[in-house]
Amino acid sequence: MNGDFTLYTPTKVVFGHDAEAKTGALVKAFGGTCALIHYGGGSVVRSGLLDRVKASLDEAGVRHVELGGVVPNPRLEKVYEGVALAKANGVDFLLAVGGGSVIDSAKAIAYALAEPEYDVKELYEHTRAPKACLPVGTVLTIAASGSEMSDSSVISYEDKKRGCNSDLCRPKFAVMNPALTATLPAYQTAAGCSDILMHTMERYFVQGPKLELTDAIAEGLLRTVMRYAAVLRDDPENYEARAEIMWAGSLSHNGLTGCGNDGNDFASHRLEHELGALYDVTHGAGLTAVWGSWARYVYKNCLPRFVRFATNVMGVAPQASDEETALKGIAAMEDFFRSIGMPTNLRELGVHPNEDDILLLAHNCAVATGGKVGSAMKLYEADMANIYRMANA
Ligand code: NZQ
Ligand code: ZN
Repeated sequence: MNGDFTLYTPTKVVFGHDAEAKTGALVKAFGGTCALIHYGGGSVVRSGLLDRVKASLDEAGVRHVELGGVVPNPRLEKVYEGVALAKANGVDFLLAVGGGSVIDSAKAIAYALAEPEYDVKELYEHTRAPKACLPVGTVLTIAASGSEMSDSSVISYEDKKRGCNSDLCRPKFAVMNPALTATLPAYQTAAGCSDILMHTMERYFVQGPKLELTDAIAEGLLRTVMRYAAVLRDDPENYEARAEIMWAGSLSHNGLTGCGNDGNDFASHRLEHELGALYDVTHGAGLTAVWGSWARYVYKNCLPRFVRFATNVMGVAPQASDEETALKGIAAMEDFFRSIGMPTNLRELGVHPNEDDILLLAHNCAVATGGKVGSAMKLYEADMANIYRMANA
């Protein structure tokens, strides 16, 4: 029923200057006696964050082992490596120090350890639902995925990129020091801001009436992210802007901006996941590369939402017709993406699929979504191919 909802967001947020110093005490408070510190390609080593986190664990008397090397679009092989290491060392807590890729890999390891009799891959193949998960905590270094509060873990294997969603993996805590994100390359900052916008837009462009308060939160979040993404483009070390974006990243994907709607859209995300699987693109950039094409394909089917978005979020003055207003709103969002250096088509993303590739992308997306996806408009395999074609023009 429209207006009904369940919001479950159990993650303790510790936000602000030097927040990482509290990590050890948090792991201990949530029952961890031996933590697997999981991290990525080395940014946390170079910044000194890893050493500070280890010192905090030592101070709290929490044993730890570590495993780095998680890549963007994290791989199942690394998950298996983490599982073996954790088993050999009696790990009872997963501590992700990094971004969405690290957090999602940690969640996968946590699932695997809690039900060791099964292959964790089954969860991502959707042949089995998880029944347990070890506790996960996070020290976030990039505002983007929202995985620090979300119910989702997205893992890549073979030529697939698949998600597993369950409240079981929602992190126990999220340590968020906005200053830690100041070392991000400009492209990653912009891609992160775009992903944050998309997590709210995927919940905004839906059919049926919505709660006014939820809409107001969503619109305020979108305007705030656009405003501070522009600040960071020109002044990457601006702490206030880092803080606004970081907090928005968590609220955008913890469920808040979807409260009371009757099912999210997430078509752009599912289209992007196939691009990620085939071309290993940066998630946020893959999203902006397809969003405009998706929006032009579906807007007539969800016109009041697109008109509201144009006026309340993008500041478009009402045009002669609702369709014109909606199209101006879409164009304004694409202008914004370009203004922060994000692609608005596949060419700008740096991928050049031929017709066979497009059919494969659409087929894989249809398989992954059980044949259809979307709320603004239900998309089937032929629609998915059409949107990829539009984005490829
Ligand atoms: O690996 P390191 O060296 O740390 O470098 C990373 C990586 O190259 C770098 N980085 C992160 N923090 C940094 C930094 N570099 C300098 N200074 C810092 N402070 O940034 C690069 C990207 O990191 P990644 O973790 O891949 O980024 P993001 O947080 O955007 O995560 C992307 C992954 O999350 C998934 C995406 O599909 C993708 O696989 N998603 C997960 C979701 C979820 N679990 O709820 C929802 C999302 O929609 C998304 O699908
Ligand atoms: Zn996303």
